[in-house]
Amino acid sequence: MGDKGPEIIITRDLEELSQKAAEFIAGFITDLEKTKERIAIALSGGTTPKRLYERLAIGPFHKDIPWNQVHLFWGDERFVPPGHPDSNYRMVYEALISKVPIPSENVHRMPGEMAYPQAAADEYEENLHRFFGSSPEGWPRFDLVILGVGSDGHTASLFPGSEALKERRRWVAAPYVEKLNAYRLTLTLPVFNSADQVIFLVNGKEKARIVKELLAGYNTKTIFPVQMIKPRHGKPIFFLDRPSASLIYYNTGNGSMNRFRKFIG
Ligand code: 6PG
Repeated sequence: MGDKGPEIIITRDLEELSQKAAEFIAGFITDLEKTKERIAIALSGGTTPKRLYERLAIGPFHKDIPWNQVHLFWGDERFVPPGHPDSNYRMVYEALISKVPIPSENVHRMPGEMAYPQAAADEYEENLHRFFGSSPEGWPRFDLVILGVGSDGHTASLFPGSEALKERRRWVAAPYVEKLNAYRLTLTLPVFNSADQVIFLVNGKEKARIVKELLAGYNTKTIFPVQMIKPRHGKPIFFLDRPSASLIYYNTGNGSMNRFRKFIG
């Protein structure tokens, strides 16, 4: 992919993907431990990252990560109360927050329980302004953003064709997602692109086609919301399991994974 495209890390399966991502995140946080009092991380929802969050709650990560310096935010949220089965906050609470000594004031969930989606977006944006203050770039600068990839190329709650993709002023949007017949809360593209580091977690063979389409045109085409995530401060890293990478890599049988050049722009 050359030095323009994202970094790609292929793992055997979801377990190894979760372990490798946990190692990366723990290392990323401990590298900042001495220089940053508050380390701001925006979390992905969905199902893929659950195992990652569970791993961060145990073993060396539970002990090594300075939880009192970590501040958790959400990249997006379903417009539901925090106890709802669909809530991304609830998923992270059960997998991680309830198991580590992170101070409650360090957990900044999106208020999906509010009466109106736009009011919830406004409230979260005020919360972000309070935390990040006014930055020279005019955007909050997350240290780390964790994102997933939908089979349609959406990420966070930025779906193909969404008006929220055009947002260049607001930090948080409240799009109505036709295909889900539901409102969502989501950080906007300029916020994601102001992050110091973005990582994508993708697993499962049902993602193989979108992975190929995304990575083949990462630098040439901008069709999917995932391709609009181009952080100014560093290239994104894609953690892929082999099934999701099966159309861009093949296994030569000697254990090495080679790359189909024709699929990679
Ligand atoms: C959400 C996520 C969403 C997710 C993708 C991939 O709220 O559902 O933010 O963007 O990351 O849909 O989901 P999976 O990882 O579960 O396939």
